[in-house]
Amino acid sequence: MHHRLGSVHHIGIAVANLEEAKKIFSEALGIPCIEEKTLPERGVRVAFLSSGNTTVELLEGIGPESTVAKFVAQRGAGIHHLCFEVDGIERVMQELAASGMRLIDENPRPGAEGKPVAFVHPKSTLGVLVELIEK
Ligand code: CO
Repeated sequence: MHHRLGSVHHIGIAVANLEEAKKIFSEALGIPCIEEKTLPERGVRVAFLSSGNTTVELLEGIGPESTVAKFVAQRGAGIHHLCFEVDGIERVMQELAASGMRLIDENPRPGAEGKPVAFVHPKSTLGVLVELIEK
């Protein structure tokens, strides 16, 4: 079996309040915040914290239709997704679909950093939302 997924690119954590979350993860735990963005089209405010070899993506949902806001309302704050680097995202998506995995995205879409991303449905992965990002 070859390595279809590469390194962990980032860990997504859904939070109710980005400022409060930054106080905990950035100030108290000491993972420096390197960038902050509002992505209205995706219904999120995002802060990227860099621990050196990976990134923590804090996500606060904005608006009642935001999937992140719904996640926090239903399950509370916590780990929301794991993102893995892939080489050739479209091919990997085809391979996963062919092996019976359900994908949320039919085609890659631009992620928060502009690189193509796609999500695997958590129903296929024991409840863990998996994001793929083009290397
Ligand atoms: Co992500």
